[in-house]
Amino acid sequence: MAQRMDRLPEQFFAQLSGRVLQAVQAGRDVINLGQGNPDLPTPSHIVEALREAVLDPSTHRYPPFSGLPSLKEAVAEFYLREYGVTLHPEHEVAILFGGKAGLVELSEIYLDAGDVALVPDPGYPDYWSGVALAGGRMVKLPLTPNNRFLPDLEAVSTTDWQRAKLLFMNYPNNPTGAVATLDYFAKCAEVASRHGTLVVHDFAYGAIGFDGVKPPSFLQAEGAKEAGIEVYTLSKTFNMAGWRVAFAVGRRDVIRALNLLQDHYYVSLFPAVQRAAIAALLGPQDCVRDLRATYERRRNAWVGALTAHGIHCPPPKGSFFAWMPVPAGVNSSEYADLLFEEVDVAVAPGRGFGEQGDNHVRIGLLTPEARLAQAAERVAQVHAALRLPG
Ligand SMILES: Cc1ncc(COP(=O)(O)O)c(C=O)c1O
Repeated sequence: MAQRMDRLPEQFFAQLSGRVLQAVQAGRDVINLGQGNPDLPTPSHIVEALREAVLDPSTHRYPPFSGLPSLKEAVAEFYLREYGVTLHPEHEVAILFGGKAGLVELSEIYLDAGDVALVPDPGYPDYWSGVALAGGRMVKLPLTPNNRFLPDLEAVSTTDWQRAKLLFMNYPNNPTGAVATLDYFAKCAEVASRHGTLVVHDFAYGAIGFDGVKPPSFLQAEGAKEAGIEVYTLSKTFNMAGWRVAFAVGRRDVIRALNLLQDHYYVSLFPAVQRAAIAALLGPQDCVRDLRATYERRRNAWVGALTAHGIHCPPPKGSFFAWMPVPAGVNSSEYADLLFEEVDVAVAPGRGFGEQGDNHVRIGLLTPEARLAQAAERVAQVHAALRLPG
């Protein structure tokens, strides 16, 4: 096999889900807060749109290369409605097989061996996959409570900027739950443009902001449309993770390159899925409001139950993850093992998202409130038994 296969990092979370599965099969009552798989179903009007589309034999044929024009128009309408951003449907929108595929493709498009990608640490591990496949090098940007999980781009060395072709960002953030401001995005656009680095903003959790704050799109920021692109997935906003549909929007040269690469890999997505995606983007949006409210209630249930036991977990501002500090004296894997072995609560060790994550664990708020409260009770038992600090 080619050497690039050896460069692919181990899938940290495949291991975790294997362990949970084994424990469940052994009859243990595991509360799994370790994964990021939305637990609620796709809204019925979207499922209905798929059903109708699949009965139309024209959807059984090859779709047009680079996707249905009507879907790209729907994306443009969605961005205008949600963010006031005007997009040219043909030149500024590319349809993707899920955000994950698009993010990996962007590294393939931009990185030659030895080129640098600036990536958040902690961050979503699929940024690393694309960089590894392309033979690129990662320079990690630390996200810490001190910088409110917004990396200081001025701290990146001039040499690293000179080699950096890509800057990956993601707000609302997985795993920290942080949300960025438009001012921060404008600053990123300015600094990256100055160095000729393309900004890739991963907006996977764009619809999930709490306390009445709507997370901004990178493209709303001054200079952003020249500085980069944004990747948006339907997986989270519409509970469509299994459907594999997303899109990239922004700079024309990047969109053209994505379409070109995808013309070689695929033709485009199953047309029935594309039609259902149109129904999601342009149909009733109360399902999105309800989903956001559900996650906010879950967040409050989790944080509230821990606080009642004197355990500190800062409430996330967006996404469906809480980023919980581990008690002094243990690292993230030790703490995750402790919770799993002692009380059957599975959480994701922060180390899986990068070195800077090793003093946190990620909690997925993807189970009902009562179950989250039960998980918090179990965590509190461990803290009490081992006299762990909050
Ligand atoms: C930060 C982030 N980006 C992108 C994705 C990819 O989503 P999808 O491939 O389902 O579109 C995820 C999924 O978990 C994610 O957490």
